[in-house]
Amino acid sequence: MTSFASLIEPDRIHGSLYTDAAIFSREMKVIFRDGWAFVGHESEIPEPGDYITRTIGSEPVLFLRNKDGEVRVFSNRCTHRGNRLCHEGRGKLRGGIMCTYHGWAFSFDGDLLAVPYEGGFTKAKENYSLRQPKMASHRGFVFATYNPDPEDFYDYLGYGKDLIDKSVSMSPVGKIRLDSGWVKHLFKANWKMLPENQTDGYHANHVHKSFLKVFSSQYDELKTNEEKRVGSVVDWGNGHASIEVSERYDGPLQWLGSNEERYPEYVKAMNEAYGENEARKLMTEGPPHAYIFPNLFLGEANIVIIEPVAPDLSVQHHSPMLLEGVPEGLNARIIRQSEGALGPSGLLLADDSVISEQQQIALQGKSGWLEISRGVDRERLEDGKRIGHVSDETTNRGFWQHYLAKMNRSSVETPVEPELV
Ligand code: FES
Ligand SMILES: [Fe+2]
Repeated sequence: MTSFASLIEPDRIHGSLYTDAAIFSREMKVIFRDGWAFVGHESEIPEPGDYITRTIGSEPVLFLRNKDGEVRVFSNRCTHRGNRLCHEGRGKLRGGIMCTYHGWAFSFDGDLLAVPYEGGFTKAKENYSLRQPKMASHRGFVFATYNPDPEDFYDYLGYGKDLIDKSVSMSPVGKIRLDSGWVKHLFKANWKMLPENQTDGYHANHVHKSFLKVFSSQYDELKTNEEKRVGSVVDWGNGHASIEVSERYDGPLQWLGSNEERYPEYVKAMNEAYGENEARKLMTEGPPHAYIFPNLFLGEANIVIIEPVAPDLSVQHHSPMLLEGVPEGLNARIIRQSEGALGPSGLLLADDSVISEQQQIALQGKSGWLEISRGVDRERLEDGKRIGHVSDETTNRGFWQHYLAKMNRSSVETPVEPELV
């Protein structure tokens, strides 16, 4: 029987972790259903009846706002014969949720309200409420878990709380909104390759060479040699990780390829909200480039969701992170930046997706071991964070050690028990 500890060593991991179907289904249970996973942001469903369809691992869920204005998460599955209740990615429901198969109707709180030809059923309607995971949120970021006795939400979030706070603090009123739509990219690759790549500072000057040739940008530093490269990577614990590039900026809004002269109203609002020193620091450093385990990536001016579909298939969803209380010109600039980096004809994501797919192809068969040792002898510990050179694999090691802590309660061959709830 293969244990996870035998597949994950401090500085190398086994290739089967990306390809094995039993490992994938174990992850869907242990990491996604039993742990906390990101579902959506409250701003996506502003009005009662607004809904979004998402997944928690492979569980389809419905993220909706009830009549009292409260946010709810349900399994997107009818409790009669399991039909998917809402088919579209987003929409607005009036009155309740009606199943398209036999017409059972549910309230926005998941209660079964009405059943056509009721006479044939003998069980009470209370038995058929929609399945509802536990829910918790921070600054409008909603997470859920199917674990009836989950880890404390803020223990799970750990330093992730500060990373979310930093993103949200780009707004002078401390609020973001995700209402400009989502782009979905299909990756023929294992879901774990996405966060590994998102926090990998080693590949940028190689994979994104064409981008670096065309544009003068904050990534220019990456073209130079190892010693001259500025920045660091951080393993924040709990699987969360970031690339810190803010040292490259010496003035507000350089992270957006802009400057403070272009957005004086924003600068004024930030100064009033946070005081000049803190505002300048926030505007100069910009939003974090940070991954929150297991499926949320705070991609600077983007919010990214990682959706695992199969061992060799994932979907990456991304939306520009728009700021409340700022001139719309600034949000327009954020949308353009998002399109340029991650959009359908964007310059970064296409490069990364090709690499993930080539990695996936190469790992089929007897793939053996993958190396994650870069910088293992030069990282340092600071307040529980592990910090490495910007090109080191500190973030990968942090991800895998957390993954191991989660998964090693089970062995690879253990079949996933059906959940009889
Ligand atoms: S499956 Fe939903 S009403 Fe029958
Ligand atoms: Fe990349």
